[in-house]
Amino acid sequence: MSTTQIYTKFSYDAHARTCAPNDFLRQIRRTVNDEPMSEAQLNMIMKAIRNGLQLQPDDALIELACGNGLLSVQLFDACRSYLGTDISDYLISIAKKHFERLPNHRFEVQGGIECVNREAHPERFTRALCYAGFQYFGDQDILHILTTLYKRFTRLERIFLGNLPDRARIADFFTHRIPGEDELSDPGTALGAWRTRETFAQLVNAAGWQAVFSVMPPEFYGAHYRYDVTLTRQG
Ligand SMILES: C[S@@+](CC[C@H](N)C(=O)[O-])C[C@H]1O[C@@H](n2cnc3c(N)ncnc32)[C@H](O)[C@@H]1O
Repeated sequence: MSTTQIYTKFSYDAHARTCAPNDFLRQIRRTVNDEPMSEAQLNMIMKAIRNGLQLQPDDALIELACGNGLLSVQLFDACRSYLGTDISDYLISIAKKHFERLPNHRFEVQGGIECVNREAHPERFTRALCYAGFQYFGDQDILHILTTLYKRFTRLERIFLGNLPDRARIADFFTHRIPGEDELSDPGTALGAWRTRETFAQLVNAAGWQAVFSVMPPEFYGAHYRYDVTLTRQG
């Protein structure tokens, strides 16, 4: 028996097309109280990503769900090569136009599953990133992506997954109405699927990785309901 969906689904591609072509922050919903995020907040994000990835000059970085590349470009000088992928044609067109630095730092339209399955030279990558993106994948897709990164991307040492909504902190975010189970678990909503650290760690461990969880400084707007995770290979 099917149930009626009473909440709204969200498309980043459709959303970004409603924003001004140079309003990079709104396109990827980097807003606080509907205003573009401050430089201080953005700097906190970049610091967390840098800490998680520990990029070395020889590293090759692959990014899933990179959006319009606004954050990605800030990592280009710290690594030898970069491939950013996202399912949104529109966001990748912005990334290509404004941020691509060929031949070594480039963007491609690809969903996360397609990206890990089809990469022709997976063994060249040493670091992987998905910031504010893993919540838009279901459990089976996460398991597939992480397992494939483990098996095909044989030189991958670290993965940083950031800005994930914490299922244990829903009451800190939804102060008026707690959404139902279906909505909280749905990767197709604006906030994506909420997972506890325990649930997330189970997926990570099953794919061969070990997880170290971290949180942003308290001054970060989402620190009270989100976490970050750094993955390294088990044993
Ligand atoms: C909140 S934005 C984050 C963008 C960028 N990582 C950042 O932090 O600025 C979420 C991104 O996930 C992408 N996305 C959603 N589902 C995806 C999928 N199945 N495969 C690849 N990208 C996906 C969206 O197109 C969007 O660009």
